[in-house]
Amino acid sequence: MYERSIKDPAGFWSEIADAFYWKEKWNPSEVCSENLDVSKGPVHISWFKGGKTNICYNAVDRNIEAGNGDKIAMYWEGNEPGQDGKLTYSELREKVCQLANYLKSVGVGKGDAVVIYLPMLLELPIAMLACARIGAVHSVVFAGFSADSLAQRIVDCKPKLVLTCNAVKRGPKPILLKDIVDAALVESEKNGFSVGICLTYENQSVMKRQDTKWQAGRDVWWQDVVTNFPTKCDVEWVDAEDPLFLLYTSGSTGKPKGVMHTSGGYMVYTATTFKYAFDYKPTDIYWCTADCGWITGHSYVTYGPLLNGAAVLVFEGTPNYPDAGRCWDIVDKYKVSIFYTAPTLVRSLMRDGNEYVTRYSRKSLRVLGSVGEPINPSAWRWFYNVVGDSKCPISDTWWQTETGGFMMTPLPGAWPQKPGSATFPFFGVQPVIVDEKGQEIEGECSGYLCIKKSWPGAFRTLYGDHDRYETTYFKPFAGYYFTGDGCSRDKDGYHWLTGRVDDVINVSGHRIGTAEVESALVSHPQCAEAAVVGVEHEVKGQGIYAFVTLVDGVPYSEELRKSLISKVRTQIGAFAAPDRIHWAPGLPKTRSGKIMRRILRKIAAKQLDELGDISTLADPGVVDQLIALKDC
Ligand code: PRX
Repeated sequence: MYERSIKDPAGFWSEIADAFYWKEKWNPSEVCSENLDVSKGPVHISWFKGGKTNICYNAVDRNIEAGNGDKIAMYWEGNEPGQDGKLTYSELREKVCQLANYLKSVGVGKGDAVVIYLPMLLELPIAMLACARIGAVHSVVFAGFSADSLAQRIVDCKPKLVLTCNAVKRGPKPILLKDIVDAALVESEKNGFSVGICLTYENQSVMKRQDTKWQAGRDVWWQDVVTNFPTKCDVEWVDAEDPLFLLYTSGSTGKPKGVMHTSGGYMVYTATTFKYAFDYKPTDIYWCTADCGWITGHSYVTYGPLLNGAAVLVFEGTPNYPDAGRCWDIVDKYKVSIFYTAPTLVRSLMRDGNEYVTRYSRKSLRVLGSVGEPINPSAWRWFYNVVGDSKCPISDTWWQTETGGFMMTPLPGAWPQKPGSATFPFFGVQPVIVDEKGQEIEGECSGYLCIKKSWPGAFRTLYGDHDRYETTYFKPFAGYYFTGDGCSRDKDGYHWLTGRVDDVINVSGHRIGTAEVESALVSHPQCAEAAVVGVEHEVKGQGIYAFVTLVDGVPYSEELRKSLISKVRTQIGAFAAPDRIHWAPGLPKTRSGKIMRRILRKIAAKQLDELGDISTLADPGVVDQLIALKDC
């Protein structure tokens, strides 16, 4: 199949796409049209041009029409054990249609943006599907982002409406989401954009409506309006290349990038990757621990599984609440057969000991999956031997927000695995490793990972900034999509991802731009300059290590350290809080003023005998000062 997908991509993908419902078929001569080479004109990618479809119809209605209306589409396990729910495909369609009808009634239509800031309630995938049904463009913002980050995204995509809920509990801790949204809406208004409607779900088990702050005229209770609408809603047929969603992700500058995915190609790609990478069978119960606020939750909680008619488990809570056995308790409760998670979760549960795992049967498990960062071989082995009882293959899926779906992954049982390797490319994907000059290197090698040719799930642009799209992804190596990752290939052709080669760090599988953290730190009135690097972290993969130069005369203090960290929490979100602040009287800079991060990375990693040549620094003395301050 792989060979065919490369030799005849149009034929290969057309046959797969034929299994979906298209209101109008695509133009057979335009299955794929692309230019990835900036020297030949603007970069563009399109798949199934001329086709008209709807991903919500294919993910929901098509399953009902196939006779699976009574099959469970989604199970929901709440934060507290014992809190649960479920929806059949027919019930899911009713909920989606009611919300879609409400959205239409307030003037949301095809092409309009809707921002969704919700925790992992079923209302989150329902909201995504409702937008898709009417051709609106959803932009889900992970509900761990701060008010400032939410405001930044709102100002960029100018939604007709924001969807949220009043409060949620994460583990033992209540979080007042509506307060965060209120602050974000004030902030976006200051920046010239005001949101007309804030549709708020009353999460009654956590907070009653009378305790919720309310702005009459703008705020509307979901339960008061949505349930009054009809449970049927016509589908808006959209062009294959119409936008489906925007999802903001971090890059090497401070401004997040609005990654834009379109409808047709994304639909075909997420469904196909899901089916093969997890060896999906209709009897499977599938659980992906990702939040819908990230791409994994878009492609592999919502669209990919539902497009296959799967039963998906949505989990609101955290893996160590009430204790470190929660995941395996859930696996047994629902008889989960496919379990897809991140290495950081594996490492953190591994630390808590095997008893939390072995006290549960886990006998339903069949396939395991990993995503978000390279999985280190020891975590891989623990996942395989202890969690999977040495019988479940692990699909180590390498991909990105930009790629829409899996790019490299083992196919369970199809070829021998090597712990820590994402193995080989998925159908239609042509990875190449290039050197600094952009020359492809063959055989056993290491270099920059690029992709030759497009694939249906590829992102089509960065919202409102096609120049940045070309500059970031297509200019570094002419004619290729540049992933931002380093990669080596071994003698057997297996691929080993070695991490980001740009100024992006990967903390617990979350992508964070060093520039974003630096700009949050320097907005502190007592911070003169900051430089952030990633440093190895036992559980998170990478931790955030910040070198901070204070304004002249300000003394170092524990209080100041805390207030700098809290600045990052409020500007980005708690997940981006630095693990270490290292006071820096000065930063190592070249004579032209460029910060030499290479040296900072070595100091952070305590590899002081590997600092390399420091003679090109404007003031080599700063290195000694930094080393002297390492324990502050
Ligand atoms: O560095 C790679 C790493 O995560 C980056 C993409 O992050 P994001 O767009 O947030 O998407 C995460 C979920 C797809 C990549 O550039 N990454 C993701 N999966 C793997 C990985 N690194 C190694 N192995 C993986 N399986």
